[in-house]
Amino acid sequence: MKISTSILSIQEDIEKIKQIDQLPTDFIHLDVMDGKFVPNTVDFRNLSFFTKQLDVHLMVEDVKKYIDFYETLHPTYITFHLEVGNTKELISYIKEKGIKVGLCVKPATPIEDLLPYLKEIDLVLVMSVEPGFGGQAFLGNTVSKLKRLKALKEEYGPYLIEVDGGINATTCKWCTDADMLVIGSYITKAPSSMGAIQSIKESLRSGTE
Ligand code: DX5
Ligand code: ZN
Repeated sequence: MKISTSILSIQEDIEKIKQIDQLPTDFIHLDVMDGKFVPNTVDFRNLSFFTKQLDVHLMVEDVKKYIDFYETLHPTYITFHLEVGNTKELISYIKEKGIKVGLCVKPATPIEDLLPYLKEIDLVLVMSVEPGFGGQAFLGNTVSKLKRLKALKEEYGPYLIEVDGGINATTCKWCTDADMLVIGSYITKAPSSMGAIQSIKESLRSGTE
């Protein structure tokens, strides 16, 4: 299981972000918000010091504009929301830039809506909270969505399954059908971020024994 650390809850604290970038996780998850698709505005475009691979999550309406902004950080993945529309064109736009494509669904959007696109994409991001803010509680209906996506891989894969929101040492055990966990405040706001990562890894080990 891979871990992608969301720095949303420490967006003002550059020193802390640099520390988080050194910890033993796989990706840094950049939450980008335009104040329209979600009622919050966040932009990490000016941060170019990351050593880890980047996983960009666009919660914006004008997706193309933000793809152009973020390609300069050379992310591994750029993920946008299915609910925005214009999906086929946006998938091609990201691929043409040599960046892997992710599609994200809000908690109320059924997995079936992804079927026309699953064979074209590299990653599916399942929101386990309403997008917009860190520190919310994990929504239980996520677990069956992860299971469904895993089952669909046989026919529609390969794609990476990522889950985002409210993940901690307890809720991570419910997400074993995913391939990558996005974890924000549980790591970034912990007294020891290293300790929090270790407790996630320990939970995952004990949960699968
Ligand atoms: C919510 C973001 C999440 C969030 C995760 O819109 O997409 O990535 O930052 O943070 P926690 O882990 O605190 O829920
Ligand atoms: Zn996110």
